[in-house]
Amino acid sequence: MKILLASSEVYPYSKTGGLADAVGALGKALAQAGHQVGIVTPLYRGIREAFPGLRRVDWNFDFPLGNQRINAELWALEPAPWLTIYFIHQSGYFDRDGIYGENGADYWDNGARFIFFSKCVTHLARYLPWQPEVINVNDWQTGLVPAMVLHQARTAGWANRPRVCLTIHNLAYQGWFPASAYALANLPADYFRAEGAEHFGKLNCLKAGIAFADILTTVSPRYAREITTQEFGESLDALLRKRQSALVGILNGVDYDEWNPSADPHLTAPYSAAALRGKVIAKAALQKELGLPVEPQTPLFGTITRLVEQKGVDIQIGALEEMLNAGIQFVLLGSGSADYERAWRKLAARFPQQAALRIGYHHALAHRIEAGCDFYLMPSRFEPCGLNQMYSLRYGTVPIVRRTGGLDDTVVDAIDNPALANGIKFSEYSAPVLARAIRKALVLYADAELLRHYQQNGMAADFSWSRVVGQYLTAFTNHI
Ligand code: ADP
Ligand code: GLC
Repeated sequence: MKILLASSEVYPYSKTGGLADAVGALGKALAQAGHQVGIVTPLYRGIREAFPGLRRVDWNFDFPLGNQRINAELWALEPAPWLTIYFIHQSGYFDRDGIYGENGADYWDNGARFIFFSKCVTHLARYLPWQPEVINVNDWQTGLVPAMVLHQARTAGWANRPRVCLTIHNLAYQGWFPASAYALANLPADYFRAEGAEHFGKLNCLKAGIAFADILTTVSPRYAREITTQEFGESLDALLRKRQSALVGILNGVDYDEWNPSADPHLTAPYSAAALRGKVIAKAALQKELGLPVEPQTPLFGTITRLVEQKGVDIQIGALEEMLNAGIQFVLLGSGSADYERAWRKLAARFPQQAALRIGYHHALAHRIEAGCDFYLMPSRFEPCGLNQMYSLRYGTVPIVRRTGGLDDTVVDAIDNPALANGIKFSEYSAPVLARAIRKALVLYADAELLRHYQQNGMAADFSWSRVVGQYLTAFTNHI
């Protein structure tokens, strides 16, 4: 099959979260399976320097954006057979320090930036010589592509248009803009209606995608069910219920080329389920790196996250207030809201011998935390899929997660299945209940044999992307 993926971030070229990992790895896995794949993404600052193989393609974009005209260049890279990454080079929009914003504030012109990007995606899909059969757009940033494709097919003679699949990675980010921003799409008023791009009088890019895509996927089966309810539907549940027959939940995979403790360039000693000594070394090295007492017997908990409400920061701080007194160590790597950063700083200052805080984005440190910790905490309020709990499983780091979304679909608690248990799950969103889950972890930690059983189960779990590819192909073809 011939597939064009479109995303505002793609690992290893750009990344703020799991979206980048998921799209980069899905593209790679589809190409490895012999499909022709293109991934289109903006050319952000620094990409050309980091990937000198990028080449300019003889192709220019020149579109109206409302009543302006905007130009862009096309650059490309072929990192693997059957896989081409297309970069949209529009320096005014994308050659900036951040991807979506700086210093905690979104860029004021994100509407224009991503509507323009969506036009480029639509144009490429239409004119690429290899004629994609499916366009897989991701999240609100490309949410207007389905309407653009539909419109051109209806009015501009685009025969045999490709099907459009929208993958929802996170329903909480919808791309809301003032109604006036709709003019930037240069689409007729028709699409700006209550079952289209309009929502409470504003432009809602994700809603437009949900309304006009042929196929809808999201990143775990449980989240696919959750988002059709009022509790998780973020005001789009009614529309999602209407489109339920087009919606399927496909669990993300893990790129084991990237996240594999037996061949991780960021670790000094590799390890595997059969030989866990490297994990002991990784723990001591991490404690040292973080300035924590190097104590092999002290259980070390970790979290790597965007500091946003979704991730359960408030209950995590509450639970750790209590549990740091119980002689555990904890490391947080994260960045995001200034308020949350301040709250974490306050906690870490009170427990300097036990809590280490690293504010910022550090790729290599993220790997060392996955390897060096005994437990990984992920108490999300909601979680469409979640990748770090799956990375933790592979690194023999027992995840403690809330029973929601993809966390529930990937972690096995002893209550569900003692033979296959690989983590600890809790349900109620509260600090005391999370603290209780941490206490369970301490009981597990004290039982070396049982802990090993959990680790072995986790390390044996297989979330390879090659297993996921077939599910995407089924979703793409069932609706063609
Ligand atoms: P989300 O996409 O909601 O942020 P995921 O669990 O799907 O959550 O993916 C998060 C990804 O981003 C993981 O690969 C994680 O390691 C990475 N990540 C998040 N914050 C940081 C950080 N501060 N430093 C390094 N990596 C981070
Ligand atoms: C989103 C979600 C996360 C998911 C990721 C990749 O950012 O918050 O749960 O794993 O996308 O699909």
